[in-house]
Amino acid sequence: MANSELRGLVDNEKRRAAAQALHWVSDGMLVGLGSGSTAAYFIQLLGEALQAGKLRVQATATSLASETLARSVGVPLLAPRRGLRFDLTVDGADEIDPQLTLIKGGGGALLREKVLATASDYLLIIADSSKLVPQLGQFPLPLEVVPFALPWVLDAVAQLGGEPTVRVDKKKAPQPALSDQGNLLVDCHFRSIPDPTELALQLQAIPGVVEHGLFLGLARAAIVAQEEKLLVLRPGVAPADAVDFTKLP
Ligand code: A5P
Repeated sequence: MANSELRGLVDNEKRRAAAQALHWVSDGMLVGLGSGSTAAYFIQLLGEALQAGKLRVQATATSLASETLARSVGVPLLAPRRGLRFDLTVDGADEIDPQLTLIKGGGGALLREKVLATASDYLLIIADSSKLVPQLGQFPLPLEVVPFALPWVLDAVAQLGGEPTVRVDKKKAPQPALSDQGNLLVDCHFRSIPDPTELALQLQAIPGVVEHGLFLGLARAAIVAQEEKLLVLRPGVAPADAVDFTKLP
């Protein structure tokens, strides 16, 4: 299959997962908006639903890019404030394991994504089928790192077996990519992560690591489009046993 054809199929899965997530949004909800291409489809569709008068919601975005998109499609935005909680956050993921433990941060927005996921009653993940994995770790695990601490963080991650690389800004190479907070992003190539809980504790203990991209026990469900199927996964439910919206029960 040609690369462009494959990209088209993946994009189609992302769009279908995002469209399904819109059905999970009710009138009056406070919604967290994720980051990345799948979340962008969701924000676009949410904006269309709002403009058609089908829904009223208020939202906060997990990145400046998503905030700009949300504003451009007419989604009313709320600034962070004490006591603010979200009924639902809809976000993408880079890897999803059977427990719905996630690797996130491929787009560099892991810190704000984790803040909103934690401030939400329900985190719904939307993804194409390439994101489903039996075990996390093939996708490099992102860290957000305070610039001063970088050399020691790199040493510590290497000791954990993570082969770290500092992310480069593709448009301004060789300058490093910066997060929305102005921090560096380090991608850690672990290849396999058999114990995400243990690794999360080890990474949290490194001074200068602001946040890591392991999302443990946060996602309540994932909508994954797999060719013509739309699967709704819950923690611990194998894809084969997931609810399939394309079939009658
Ligand atoms: C952003 O920092 C990430 O966590 C995204 O949610 C993740 O990279 C998924 O991106 P896509 O929806 O573009 O695949």
